[in-house]
Amino acid sequence: TRYTVALLVGSLRKESLNAKLAGALVKLAPAEVSFQRVEIGDLPLYNQDDDANPAPQVVRLKEQVATTQGVVFVTPEYNRSIPGVLKNALDHGSRPYGQSVWAGKPAGVMGISPGAPGTSMAQQHLRNILAYLDMPTLGQPEVFLQAKEGLFDADGSIGEGSRGFLQGWMDRYVAFLGRNAA
Ligand code: FNR
Repeated sequence: TRYTVALLVGSLRKESLNAKLAGALVKLAPAEVSFQRVEIGDLPLYNQDDDANPAPQVVRLKEQVATTQGVVFVTPEYNRSIPGVLKNALDHGSRPYGQSVWAGKPAGVMGISPGAPGTSMAQQHLRNILAYLDMPTLGQPEVFLQAKEGLFDADGSIGEGSRGFLQGWMDRYVAFLGRNAA
């Protein structure tokens, strides 16, 4: 493995479409890239008073992300933005001031929704946050998926109709990672 990429999913739901998408996505990774799912559901709510004495889950998050060369976010859209659980994780990783684990890590964003806008508005909000966190973020192709019959195969892989598109995204992201990884 040449690169390890942290994989953050913005939904905590057991049957999450986005978790399913994340699982299918990693199957498209080339041998030199290994994706590592990062748990965010057990993080406490961010409280600046705890910066000096972080919870073990926060220490774990920061260690996991610090050892990766890139970060991919697969997230639902909640009320036209990203879910609070994902923002909470981003906030935790960004602090204490000057000790952000996100800075410089090449990012990718995607998401899936039952609705036609396909998480596009959440992704735009997320891109704004990632810009501030100094994460170079792959611009194209954008991945705004709408959940439809046949999107996933019975074994959880991306179905025929979208596999080429998502493989193209993966190839672009891996090249972007190679150009931008520290
Ligand atoms: C939603 N949903 C939703 N969908 C969307 O396309 N745009 C939106 O703004 C919202 N807003 C929203 C808010 C809240 C609080 C919930 C619970 C849901 C629907 C959402 O896309 C759907 O529940 C997805 O299935 C959530 O993703 P996961 O959990 O399947 O990954």
